[in-house]
Formats: sequence, structure tokens, C-alpha cells
Amino acid sequence: MEPDTSGGVDDDGGIAPVEACVVRFRGNRDERIERWTVKVRVDKQLCTGHARCNVLGPEVYPLDDDGYCAITEAEVPAGLEKQARAGAAGCPERAISIEQ
Ligand code: F3S
Repeated sequence: MEPDTSGGVDDDGGIAPVEACVVRFRGNRDERIERWTVKVRVDKQLCTGHARCNVLGPEVYPLDDDGYCAITEAEVPAGLEKQARAGAAGCPERAISIEQ
């Protein structure tokens, strides 16, 4: 993965993908603690591609080309916590867990 130099903003002015934000703040523990609210984990063994996580949390749970959740672990910025929780609750396979 290339280091993120976007400042957390994508080309359209939206929030950069979660993985990019993680790279950007990896070296500064104090800043991470202030910026992240929860961590999400996706169990790839349980994911069967229902894609409800993406419908309920499109900015937290991107899909891969086959329709499966594309992330395995991500720290979620404060403004996206509601999407993170909704996407996790909506997964019928219970493939997503959330850590505080
Ligand atoms: Fe997979 Fe559940 Fe999302 S099965 S694609 S993690 S809704």
C-alpha cells in the first residue's frame, strides 16, 4: 500500500478510504487515540458476500470485485462510527466484530 498523502480527503473532497487514514496516522499514537472511535474486524471465513455491510456503511465497508467485504481490519474515524455499527449489525453471517 502506498503511503497516504491526501490529508484524509479523496479527490472529490470526501473522506479518504479507511485504510489510507490508518497509514497516515500510524506513526503518531496520540493522534490516533483522538481520531479513532472503534476498530472493525471482518472474518473472511464467515463473509459470504451478502454486501449488507456496504449498503449500511458504504464508507467503512468497501466491497471487492467479487462482492465480498474488502477489508479485514480498519480503525474507523469518529464521523463514521454509526456506519461501522450499522454495517456490523446488518451482516447476517455475523462476520463483523467491533472493538472499542
Ligand atoms: Fe460479508 Fe457480511 Fe458484508 S457476509 S459482504 S461481511 S454483510
